[in-house]
Amino acid sequence: MGVVVILNNMVTGDIQGLRQTQLEILNQIFQFSIEPGQLITKELVLVLYQLTLDINKEIAVYISRNGKILEVTVGNSRFVHLPSLAPRFSRRLLSGIRCIHTHPGRGILSPVDLAALDNLRLDCMMAIEVIPGKTPYLYTAFFNPVGEPDVFGPLSTEQVNSLPFQDYIVSAEKALRKKYQHQELASHEETAVLVAVELPGMRLLNAQASIAELANLAISAGARVVDSIIQNKPKPNAAYYIGKGLAEDLALRCQEVGANLIIVDDELSGTQLRNLEDITRVKVIDRTSLILDIFAQRAKSKAGKLQVELAQLNYRLPRLVGMGLQMSRLAGGIGTRGPGETKLETDRRHLRKRIVDIKGQLKQISEHREILSDNRPLKTPLVVLVGYTNAGKSSIRYHLLSKYPAKDSNLSLEDSGTNQLFATLDPTIRGIKMPGGRNILLGDTVGFIQKLPHQLISAFKATLNEVLKADLLLHVVDLSSPLVNEQQEAVLKVLEEIGAHTKNRITVFNKIDLIDAPILPPTLDGSKSLAFSAITGHGTETLLAMINAACPENMLTVDLIIPFTDGSITSNIFENYKVIEKKYNPEGIWIKAEMPMEQVSRFQKYMIE
Ligand code: GTP
Repeated sequence: MGVVVILNNMVTGDIQGLRQTQLEILNQIFQFSIEPGQLITKELVLVLYQLTLDINKEIAVYISRNGKILEVTVGNSRFVHLPSLAPRFSRRLLSGIRCIHTHPGRGILSPVDLAALDNLRLDCMMAIEVIPGKTPYLYTAFFNPVGEPDVFGPLSTEQVNSLPFQDYIVSAEKALRKKYQHQELASHEETAVLVAVELPGMRLLNAQASIAELANLAISAGARVVDSIIQNKPKPNAAYYIGKGLAEDLALRCQEVGANLIIVDDELSGTQLRNLEDITRVKVIDRTSLILDIFAQRAKSKAGKLQVELAQLNYRLPRLVGMGLQMSRLAGGIGTRGPGETKLETDRRHLRKRIVDIKGQLKQISEHREILSDNRPLKTPLVVLVGYTNAGKSSIRYHLLSKYPAKDSNLSLEDSGTNQLFATLDPTIRGIKMPGGRNILLGDTVGFIQKLPHQLISAFKATLNEVLKADLLLHVVDLSSPLVNEQQEAVLKVLEEIGAHTKNRITVFNKIDLIDAPILPPTLDGSKSLAFSAITGHGTETLLAMINAACPENMLTVDLIIPFTDGSITSNIFENYKVIEKKYNPEGIWIKAEMPMEQVSRFQKYMIE
C-alpha cells in the first residue's frame, strides 16, 4: 500500500458537544475489522446508522485494504472532513483506503464525494443512507482512471459485499500503471489553494496582485496552484484568520480540487494555523513560511544558510503548537524544509539552543567580513543594487560587469539574471572599471518583497549591512510590472526598516525594452531616475554618468615631467584628465593635471615635488 498514514486511534472532527457515551461508541469503531473479501460489515453499517441518527452529523470511517480502521471522523450535518492522505502516494497505485461515511437524508453520492474518490484515489467511496425508520441503503463508487467512476446503489450490505471490488482495484491499478508507465512516480507535489483577506481601505488591485504574487511564490517553492480565494473582511478573524464559514467551505473546496495545501497570504499566529488545519484537515502554511521555504532552497553560502535557518527557527518558536499537520502527519513538504540538508528543529529546547548557536556562528562570520571589507581599496566607491525581487538587479550587475570588468572581477553565469524569485541571496561585491579608468565596487542584495518576513530582515542584517555601507544605492524598479508603485513602496519601506532610507539613491527604471510608449513615472522618494534595459543596454552611459556625478572623485592636482620618448603617456593624460597647464622643458613636457587620487600612483615616476 502506497500511503503514509499515521494512526492515532483518536476520533477527529467536530466532536464538541457529543456525550461521553457517544464518544465511547465512536472510539469502539476502531476495534472493528473487515474480513478480506468484504467491503463492509453489517455491524459497522448499523453502528454508523444509529449513531448518525443520534448525533445528526455525518460520520466517516477510513479503512485500509487489509480491513483495519484507520480514522473515524465526525462532520457537521453538511460535510465531513476527508483526511489529507493523498500527498505521498504513487500515481501508479490507488491509495489502498476506502472511505465509508453516512449521509443524513438521501444516500446518493455527492459530486464532492466523487471528486474525493478521484483526488484521493480511494479504493472505494461509500455512503450509508440515514433516514429514521428506513433501511440503511448503501451507495458505492469505484475509482476509474480512464473515465467516470463506477457507481452503484441503492444496495443492501449483502449486495455491496457481492460486488467484485477486488477486480475493480486490480483493473484500476493496471490502468493507472499503463497511464503513467512513462512518467516518474509522483514527487511530493503539493497542490495548493491560496487564501487572502481583503481589508477595508485595501485597493482590490492590492489583494489580487498580492495573491498573484503569492501564486508565483508557491510555484517557485514547487507547488501546483489550483485555486485562490479572496475574502472581504473588516479585520482578520483572531481564531481562523478567515471567517469560520469560509474555513468550512475551504475544506470542501480542497476536497473538490484535490488540494493538500492551503497557503494564506499573510502571517498567521500559531492558533490560527492550528484552527485552520483542524477545520480543513489540510496542511496550512502562511506567506512567511512560504518565503522562508524558498530562501531555504536558494541559500548557498554558509552564512546564507545560517541566516535562513535562524529566520525559520525564530518563526517556528512561537508557533510550535500550531504546526500540527506540517510536522506530524506529513512530515515534509513546503514550510518544513531547512536550508541544504539541515532538518529543522521541532523541539523547543533544542530550537532555543540552535538559535544561540547560529547567532554565535553568524557573529564570527560577520567579524570576518568586517576584516575583509576593511581591506577594500581605499576610496573606491561602493554602489549597491537594491530592488524588488525579479526587478533585474542581477541582470544589470552582469551587464555592467561584463562590459566594464575590473582586472580582478571574474564573472560566472550564475551572476546573470534568472527568472527565479530570490535567486540572489548571498551578497557579492565585484569591481568594475568605468570608461576613463575609474574603479567602483558593485554589490547585489537579496530581492525585497511586499510583506518581507521581519524574521528575515533581522536574520539578513549582516548581509544588508552592505547596503548601509554603500556610497550610493541603485534602486532597480521593474517598469513593466503593473505594480511599479507598490513594489517601489515595499522596497523603500524595507530600506527604512534597516535604516538606509537616507542613503543617496538613483532609481533605475529597468526593462524599458518591454514598454511600448516609455514614459517614466515620478520616483516615490524624489530621487533622480533613468530608463534602463539590462537586455539592450539602453541607458548604460547615462547610468555611468549619474554614478560618477553621485560619487565625486577625490581629485588631486599633480605636476609631472614626461620625457619626449614617452609620448603615449602624454597623450593618455591629455585624453583622460583635465590638463591645467603645460610647458616644454629640455628634459620633457611639464604638465599640471587634475586626476582622481586613486590613479595618481600610475604616474608616480613622472611626478616632481
Ligand atoms: P532576485 O534575485 O529575485 O532579487 O531578482 P533580480 O532583481 O536579481 O532579477 P534578475 O536579474 O534575476 O531578473 C529577473 C528576470 O527579469 C530575468 O528573467 C531577467 O532576464 C529579466 N530581466 C532583467 N532585466 C531585464 C530587462 O531590462 N528587460 C527584460 N525584458 N527582461 C529583463
